[in-house]
Amino acid sequence: MSGYRHDPAAIRALVRPDAVHRDVYRSQELFDLEMERLWRDTWIYVGHDSQVPNPGDYYSTEIARQPVILLRDDQNEVRVLMNRCAHKGARLVSATHGHCENKLLRCPYHGWTYRLDGSIRTIPMKAGYEGTGLADTQNGRGIASPPAVVNYRGFVFARLNPQGPGFEEYFGGSLTSIDNLVDRSPEGRLEVAGGVLRYMHDSNWKMFIENLNDTMHPMVAHESAAGTAKKLWAGKPEGTPKPMAIEQFLPFVNGYSFFDQMGVHIYENGHSYTGVNFSIHSNYAAVGEYETLMEQAYGAQRARAILGEVRHNTVYYPSLTIKGAIQAIRVVRPLAPDRTLIESWTFRLAGAPAQLLRRTVLYSRLINAPTSVVGHDDQHCYRAIQEGLAAEGNDWVSLHRNYSAGEGAQLAGNYNGTSEISMRAQFRAWQRFMTGEPAR
Ligand code: FES
Ligand SMILES: [Fe+2]
Repeated sequence: MSGYRHDPAAIRALVRPDAVHRDVYRSQELFDLEMERLWRDTWIYVGHDSQVPNPGDYYSTEIARQPVILLRDDQNEVRVLMNRCAHKGARLVSATHGHCENKLLRCPYHGWTYRLDGSIRTIPMKAGYEGTGLADTQNGRGIASPPAVVNYRGFVFARLNPQGPGFEEYFGGSLTSIDNLVDRSPEGRLEVAGGVLRYMHDSNWKMFIENLNDTMHPMVAHESAAGTAKKLWAGKPEGTPKPMAIEQFLPFVNGYSFFDQMGVHIYENGHSYTGVNFSIHSNYAAVGEYETLMEQAYGAQRARAILGEVRHNTVYYPSLTIKGAIQAIRVVRPLAPDRTLIESWTFRLAGAPAQLLRRTVLYSRLINAPTSVVGHDDQHCYRAIQEGLAAEGNDWVSLHRNYSAGEGAQLAGNYNGTSEISMRAQFRAWQRFMTGEPAR
């Protein structure tokens, strides 16, 4: 089907309370509209401020298919600028990250230079612009910025549309997952550790986002990887020290009741997390020295509360997913209806023992990396959906699990962990933003 652009009713009809039309994963027109509406009107993750630790450092990326630069200016403030020269529009930086020499950005085409706040510093042969009126235009004012940028405890988000929900209004209580991740540092600070693992998925971005709180798949899709680890570990004599890799693999093949009782929490606007009661991260071996440092920093009671919160995946719809209990995040960069770049970042908890970082790095390598043995189980399934949905004869994708007709529109709250309610909530948000209805 096509013709969605001017037909909100047709978009609305793609989402039923308990199912979605296969076009939402396949249509180029809907993908374009997602970038122009959902991804432009909501708060999209740009990067972490520790990716640009020193004044002049930059990181370049794209949000909603628009090139942007995350930058630390000479006042030590983290900014987001559009990666577009004010003159004829050349992209200013091409590298994914680097440093601006002499506190200046310099366009590679005609050499206009900019201060780190985006204002114009010099234009070659400037006299040629006298009396032309350039100074009174947008071009004369320098590099544009997204109209709304927030640095929340190191996590930098931008909204490209001047109109739209406020940051706190949009994310609401889901920000407690970022709080818990940052509070796990005895110094209350995270640092990106090493570079980024980029993992190209040949599937629609929503499959990844939906899968984050899909707990009916691990025991099936990850049976080959985690099931093998389980077999290897079975029958080891009591007291054998459990390798970290085994500790991380085994919970993926826990039974259905484990994932069901784990629980899922739903917020407005498509955000959610699994691990209300416990999670696959609950039984990692304690690092005694770390707990002592946490108690010294926060007091025994508060330290216990922080470490007792072991959420599994939190979805900051539509662009960011975090695993607070293991200090890893994955960022969604949609490229086409069937092409999505997933960035996987690993964090060091400032002031925590090195053992914690080793655990995180191992997890990223085993579970989230392109070379992992868990992540590509998922990738295989996403691709399988992308190909399967080409089949005619049934236009609908089922999201019925634990649906009841009285579910209504307000979904915030706790539910059993294997419910597909997180996906239904995502699509309700999708429907609202794609048809121009306001955020909740
Ligand atoms: S396009 Fe940048 S200076 Fe001309
Ligand atoms: Fe998975």
